[in-house]
Amino acid sequence: MASFAVKTPQRDYWVYVERGILARASDYLPQGAGKIFVVTTSDVWELHRARLEPALSRGSDEVLFLPGGEERKRLVHVETLAEEMVRKGGDRSSVVIAFGGGIVNDMAGFLAAIFMRGIPVMQVPTTLLAQVDASIGGKTSVNLTEGKNLIGSFHQPLAVLIDPDVLATLPEREYRAGLYEVIKCGVIRSMPLFRLLADCRDAVLAKDPGVVDRIITESVRIKAEVVSADERESGLRRILNFGHTFGHALETETRYERFLHGEAVAFGMRAATVLAREIGQIAAMPATEILSVVERYGPIPSFDGLSAEHLVSRLVKDKKTIHGQVHFVLPRQIGEVTVVSGIEESAVLSAIRSVLA
Ligand code: GLY
Repeated sequence: MASFAVKTPQRDYWVYVERGILARASDYLPQGAGKIFVVTTSDVWELHRARLEPALSRGSDEVLFLPGGEERKRLVHVETLAEEMVRKGGDRSSVVIAFGGGIVNDMAGFLAAIFMRGIPVMQVPTTLLAQVDASIGGKTSVNLTEGKNLIGSFHQPLAVLIDPDVLATLPEREYRAGLYEVIKCGVIRSMPLFRLLADCRDAVLAKDPGVVDRIITESVRIKAEVVSADERESGLRRILNFGHTFGHALETETRYERFLHGEAVAFGMRAATVLAREIGQIAAMPATEILSVVERYGPIPSFDGLSAEHLVSRLVKDKKTIHGQVHFVLPRQIGEVTVVSGIEESAVLSAIRSVLA
């Protein structure tokens, strides 16, 4: 088992990476916890209930279902589940187990954050993307039509339990979408991780267990370190947004229907790398390597019909835009990024156009 400490002003907790750990999930619940609400989707529950059920043998636990899909990551569904929790006897001693992919992690985390002004949540991610990113660090949210994750709060979990075995049934497209977040971790902070992804593509895509465990543990190590240094994203944590600013604009512009989040991040990493090269933040050679690795884990859906101008106007509405200034996370070399603002709109347009072409 690998475990990584996350230390934040709100809460200190552990992220565990271990095959088979879900059967022992109850070991990580607080003594005296009241009713446990497992929040999941019907497909995740059908696929993986047998892994979690041994830990839920108390009889009084409840399973609540969210609709899947980024376009349904809306406040109304959080409210519906909160009403259900009250009807089923939820109170301040209740605990939420967020059991699913990134959307479930974000929504169930937000539900826990606001239910009776806050109850604990345990994160149990079942997609690669959620395991290496969404489940760690306490970000919880829902979308608005105006933009992604525009309502939410920081609500650090009790613990994060990551079982790489659940990835065996993950559809290939979703697995590759998660790999883009792993590539992000390599570009922002780990040359060895980047090299592993560049050199062992076939083993990574074949879900070779040894390689999968390595990419997950290295990504989790990075995420835990960054969040521990900066819980509220006032400094270092901004590097985790590499690819996300452009990616969120793409997701919002396509109404969350065409691209998975990880695929939008792939677009965003390409746009950010082209922009960094164009404004002289990164040399041509490492930029080409980043672009090549991102493309080799593709394809992603087509960009047909998308306008660079519309995407730029979306960028300004991102929640990372402050006083109208968009902050871009740009690579300087493999393993190091920097945050830059005040970039000419013409350079941003040109980078987006080159990726859309
Ligand atoms: N997904 C980026 C972060 O957790 O800060």
